[in-house]
Amino acid sequence: MGRFLICKEAELQPGSMKKVTINGQDVLVTNIDGKYYATDDTCTHAGASLSEGVFRDGCTVVCGWHGAQFDCTSGKLTKFPVTIRDLGSYKTVTESGDVFVEI
Ligand code: FES
Repeated sequence: MGRFLICKEAELQPGSMKKVTINGQDVLVTNIDGKYYATDDTCTHAGASLSEGVFRDGCTVVCGWHGAQFDCTSGKLTKFPVTIRDLGSYKTVTESGDVFVEI
């Protein structure tokens, strides 16, 4: 486990998301009301990149392939017709304008 710089605060405005790759692992970073959250970027249904989906309702990412919905604050699946795994969720830390993830 380590701490990795994922972006500058100014790069990711509230209500937006981006994908970063850390040691080969794709991570979805979201800014929700000024707080930063990090989850796996890969949908647990069939592997779509969630960063190519839609970020809405304050904290939900909707997968662009088949519509699975996940809570970006926790990685929990919130809506899908069948049960699939939650996303991994990671701690973020903000220091001096830099946003880090511990992964
Ligand atoms: S790959 Fe995401 S819902 Fe199917």
